[in-house]
Formats: sequence, structure tokens, C-alpha cells
Amino acid sequence: TDSRGHISVVLLGATGDLAKKYLWEGLFHLYLDQVSSGHSFTFHGAALTAHEPGQKLMFEVLKKLACPTHVSSDRCAVVKDQFLKLSQYHQLKTSENYTALNREIETLLRQEGLKEAGRIFYFSVPPFAYAEIARHINSSCRPPQGAWLRVVLEKPFGHDHKSAQQLAMELMTFFREEEMYRVDHYLGKQAVAHILPFRDQNRQFLDPIWNRHHVERVEIVLKETLDAKGRTSFYEQYGVIRDVLQNHLTEVLMYLTMELPANISSSEQVLQRKLQTFKSLQRLGSSNVVLGQYQAYASQVREELEKAQDYAVTTPTFAGVLIQLDSLRWEGVPFLLTSGKALDERVGYVRVLFKNQAYCVQRETLREAGRSPCEAKQIIFYIGHGELDHPAVLVSRNLFKPIMPAGSWKEVVDLPQLRLFGHPLSDYYVYSPVTERETYSVLISSIFHGRKDSFITTENLLASWEFWTPLLESLTQHIPRLYPGGLENQHLLDFEMVGRELAFTLEEPVELLHADGQ
Ligand code: BG6
Repeated sequence: TDSRGHISVVLLGATGDLAKKYLWEGLFHLYLDQVSSGHSFTFHGAALTAHEPGQKLMFEVLKKLACPTHVSSDRCAVVKDQFLKLSQYHQLKTSENYTALNREIETLLRQEGLKEAGRIFYFSVPPFAYAEIARHINSSCRPPQGAWLRVVLEKPFGHDHKSAQQLAMELMTFFREEEMYRVDHYLGKQAVAHILPFRDQNRQFLDPIWNRHHVERVEIVLKETLDAKGRTSFYEQYGVIRDVLQNHLTEVLMYLTMELPANISSSEQVLQRKLQTFKSLQRLGSSNVVLGQYQAYASQVREELEKAQDYAVTTPTFAGVLIQLDSLRWEGVPFLLTSGKALDERVGYVRVLFKNQAYCVQRETLREAGRSPCEAKQIIFYIGHGELDHPAVLVSRNLFKPIMPAGSWKEVVDLPQLRLFGHPLSDYYVYSPVTERETYSVLISSIFHGRKDSFITTENLLASWEFWTPLLESLTQHIPRLYPGGLENQHLLDFEMVGRELAFTLEEPVELLHADGQ
């Protein structure tokens, strides 16, 4: 950050689910990382709950915080003790509450003779509360000149282009663009965060092949076993496209397809290039989309939302979308984005499949080793879960040996006996992170360092909604006939292109319907 000094972190929604599960842990890990950096910190948990019960709830969570495995238990205990002493609870409801919080921060700084570096306000609250909180922060809690303000926002950021724009406009009356950090937690996943560095560090190998002449297709997949039970009131309004395709999978698509800037450590250049790529996405029609719904979904909705038995439930819980780009580099290459709930396995990955006939750097060596030289070349960014159960980058041995940053990724030599995408693991160079880091710890560290390219700018958000909204609207106008048998526990065996359309093969041969009912 700009200069050493004091940082006040305010977590709004301090006793909510996300805070309990991830955010306090992320803040604690930030403190662990920075405790000897010369910065000082205070952590302010805030919620609507009155002081006593709120404080009790919050400290129950804080007392359970754990350190990452590489931290010794002695050090962990000492730092955790300090962290608890630096944390306090505030009821934040009225404008007086916000003024009081501001006064407390200022008093502390004065008493301790500290220089203020900045303030982080983390909004872990539902978006309908954003505008009011934003107003209070803007009028009562801004740091003085010279110190920064960062507000962190969690999705959903609107429901379509119009509502996203409205929410963005509201926020823009209180905050400047550079002050807003919209979270897409997929950008904090280690394998996703490594896509651009990987492309950059391996330019010498990728430059000739990262294009339509050599890439056959790209799959971006998030399969989940969990269903929507218990959150159907949210899910009914969103569905799988809004829930994960518009944001997580689209962001991954951008990292794969954007032109690399000259300097990937410049947030500004990365964001610019990403934004340009949205312009080359071809408009989606209903024939680009296959939708499905898991079997128990409709009855879960009727039960949780107290609807009659004949209430029609049309929200898709599964989608496969074929995306193509109008660009010299990617024209004609199918990008398949797929996600669904209640499927046979939990796994997330990106798989770039290369054409077989071309480019085989290690032809001779492989032939000597008795391997078929040029087949099934792929690069996989394994996001997590699934059979491998950890983030990884895999490159077919018959493609090239990638350059990986030694400090943060290591080659896995003790490979489990396992086949991935039709090949034993020994057919790939396999790398995994030296230390596995929790997604929210990665994100919170990026907020602290002001890495804006790990977050969603207003322009980026609106560009994505602009792309998805026409399709979402067409799906409400012609209520799609979903695949009726349900996709529960179906083993998705493969995707393929039939002509210019997308088809899925399931374990039980069934016919899936396209969004237009064909
Ligand atoms: C969230 C969605 O954004 O991402 C959830 O709202 C989904 O429905 C989740 O389950 C998937 O994230 P992860 O980290 O579990 O792969």
C-alpha cells in the first residue's frame, strides 16, 4: 500500500453467514501476514444487533479462528490473542452510530499518535441495504485527505442490466470508482488467479497456439452436488445463469480470451483489456443454450415458498451455454460454459483442448518414450474439488513443459493413480500451489494491496449484464421447456458440438432440450 500507517477495517454484517464462514478468517489471515509489516490495524465488526448480544455472537466466531497450516501453533496463539484485542463490535443502525464509530477511530489515531493509511468497509449485507449504508459512510466515516477508502461489495449486483445499472448509479453518488471493490470470489481461487500469469510467463509456447488455428474448444465447468434446498427463495429469482454463469464463469472466460497487456501487473491495463474482450462476444440466441432442472427442485420450491402443487417452476438449475467470439484470435472456437446443482460430482475446471494435427514440440522425445506424440493435448486449470481435490495447473506432456513461478507453484511428482479427462495423470505436468490459500484470504489481501484487477469494476459488471440480459429476457418471454426428467445424479459424460450446436451426453441416454424447445 501507499504508505505505512493505520488501517481500520469495518465488517458490516459481522455476525452473518459469510462473515462467520470466511470473512473473519480472511481478516485474521491478513493480520497474520501484515503483523510485522509496520502497519497497525483495528477491526470493527458491525451489525444491526444491539451491543451485548452482537458482541457475544461475534467473539464466539473470533475465538474459533484458525491459522493456515504453515503457521506454528505458538505463533498462531500469540497473534490470535492480539487480533482479538484489536477487534470490537459496534451496533451500526442510525446516523449517530456511524458518527460515533468515526469519532472512535479518530480518537484512537490521535491517542496513539498514528498516521492513518486507510479504511476498509466490507459490506456483507444484502444489496437492498447498500444505498443507506453507503450514504452514512460517505457523510460520516470518510478518512481525511491522504488516506484511502475502500468499500467491498458482495453479489448479487443486480438482476439484469437495468437493475445493475441502477444499483451502480446509486453507489456512484457516494463512492468513486476506485473506492469500490466488487467481489467475484472466483477471482480469488488460486487456479483462476493464475490464468493470466500462466499465459504471460508461457508466452513463448502459447503465442503460436493460443488461437483458433490450434484450439479446438474450451470448457469452463462448475458442477455442484449441493442443491438449492433452503435457499429457493433466492434461487427462484436468479437461477443458474445469474447465479454463476453471468459472474464466475464469464470472468474466467475473460481471463482466457482477453489479449494480454504489455504489463500484467498493471491493474489498469488488465481491466482495459478485459473490458475490450466483452465487445467481441457474439450475441447469444436460444439455440446456444441447453437448460435443465434437477428433479426435486420444483417440489422444494413449492414447499419452501408455500405454493400450490400446480405452480409452475421454470427456473433452470443447470445450463450449458455455447459462447463464441468475433475476433481474429477466437473466431469459430466454441467456449462451453456449464454449471448445475445436484449433479454427480463437485468439481470446477477450465479445459483448453488443442487440435491434434498441429504443434507438437516434443514429437521426437515422446516417440522415443513410446508415447503417441501428438494426441489430446490440453491445458487444465483445475479450480478445485473433484478427484484431484486441490487447485492445479495441468499441461499435457506432449504440449510443453510450462514455466511456473517456483515460489508459489510446485511440480507434483507423487501423482495419484488417477485418470483425468481420459488420461493418466502421468501424461501431464502437474503443478499445485506451494501453500493452498483460502479464497477469501486471497481476496482480502488483494483489497489491502489495492489490486483492483481482482475485482469487478462498474464497466465490467455492466458489460457482462449487457451480454447476458437479452438471453435471460428471451427465456422469460418463451418459458423454456426444461429437460423434464431432471438431471439429478446424472453423470455428464461429455459435451460435444453437433454442427454449431451444443450437445451433452449423459450416462443414461436422454435427450436434452434446447432453450427454444427443440
Ligand atoms: C456462489 C453461488 O456465488 O458460488 C452458489 O451463489 C454456488 O450457488 C457458489 O454454489 C459456488 O462457489 P464454490 O466456491 O463453492 O465453487
